[in-house]
Amino acid sequence: MPKHSLETRKSTERMVDYDRHSSAQQSIISSHDARIRELARQVGRGGREMRVMDYGCGPGTSAIIAVRPALEVFRARFHDAPLVVCHADQPGNDWNALFGLVYGPTGYHAGIDNVRTEASIGSFYERMADDSSVDLATCFAASHWLSRAVRLQSPGTVWFADLQGDARQEMAELARRDWMNFLRLRARELKPGGFLFVSTLGSIPDGAERNGAAASGRGIYRALQVVAESMARDGLIDADVLDGFVFSLWFPTAEEARSPIEGDDDLLLSFEIVTIEVTPAPHNPTDFFAGLSSDPEKYANAYTGYIRAFADSTLRTQLLAPSATGPQSEDGLADEFYRRLHDLYQTRLSEFAFELWHLTVILRKM
Ligand SMILES: C[S@@+](CC[C@H](N)C(=O)[O-])C[C@H]1O[C@@H](n2cnc3c(N)ncnc32)[C@H](O)[C@@H]1O
Repeated sequence: MPKHSLETRKSTERMVDYDRHSSAQQSIISSHDARIRELARQVGRGGREMRVMDYGCGPGTSAIIAVRPALEVFRARFHDAPLVVCHADQPGNDWNALFGLVYGPTGYHAGIDNVRTEASIGSFYERMADDSSVDLATCFAASHWLSRAVRLQSPGTVWFADLQGDARQEMAELARRDWMNFLRLRARELKPGGFLFVSTLGSIPDGAERNGAAASGRGIYRALQVVAESMARDGLIDADVLDGFVFSLWFPTAEEARSPIEGDDDLLLSFEIVTIEVTPAPHNPTDFFAGLSSDPEKYANAYTGYIRAFADSTLRTQLLAPSATGPQSEDGLADEFYRRLHDLYQTRLSEFAFELWHLTVILRKM
């Protein structure tokens, strides 16, 4: 009997209070502004319209920062061309929040003319655009979510980087297949000469770590493990559920991002590799919220808000809801979970700091 099962549920459904707690994502995207402008300058006019597509756009300001550089360059280069932005995400994305921002005072419609906004709703592990229709594709802080929720026997850890043995291998294989599938789909959607720009959390080789790599956010996931274990000890989380819970994430090393392309004839024929690299974040790479560390309350608020924004739906559906069989409701368990997480950051500060290495992948469609 297999020890593990890959579930059909999605790995993540929605972000919580995302716009207020996505300064990390916004700063990552802003740090790539010049590179995206440079790619937009290299794209030829491949048709009547110029199309920018942002995969895993989310509901916040980051979705605007992601597409603005290419829009500005295209508008300056092709005065008469209709520009199309297609925001792509899952059904549970907060689309109303996103379109409120897109059409609001800081949105790209204020200032850039003749832009049409579209949405593509589904999974980027399936087709999201027509063949050869996209000039410039971006995907920020999203491709590290795997195609489905994973249930593995993973006692002692809630995330991929500390998995051992079969569980680690099974998840590594899913991550590799997902990445190749993602790239094959984008290869069909991009126009020849168009670019795919993927930026997400990465890992770097590190012999001191269990699996030979230090992954971004290792402090955060270890903090989540400490909190989850403390709640299991107090009978608030079902210990069996916790032993089988793992975030469905993979933060690749540069080698893990590159080798599936170089080992696959179709991908090699589809893409020129422009850049594949993992580099420390330009600001506060060893503690993203270091600027707040002199005020433990603010520091803990920043960490708790950031973590809740991306982790809440996974924690609820896979850990808290299945544990909420006693007197405590799912909401009560969630409140208690974040209260303990807040206490942990307030008292132990940088012990669980968010270290950040960016994976950047730039591919050109041949
Ligand atoms: C952390 S948010 C990033 C949002 C935005 N790109 C940014 O950088 O701030 C991750 C986003 O990826 C989306 N996402 C995750 N898996 C996805 C999938 N399979 N298909 C489409 N979107 C997905 C989530 O719904 C979420 O909006």
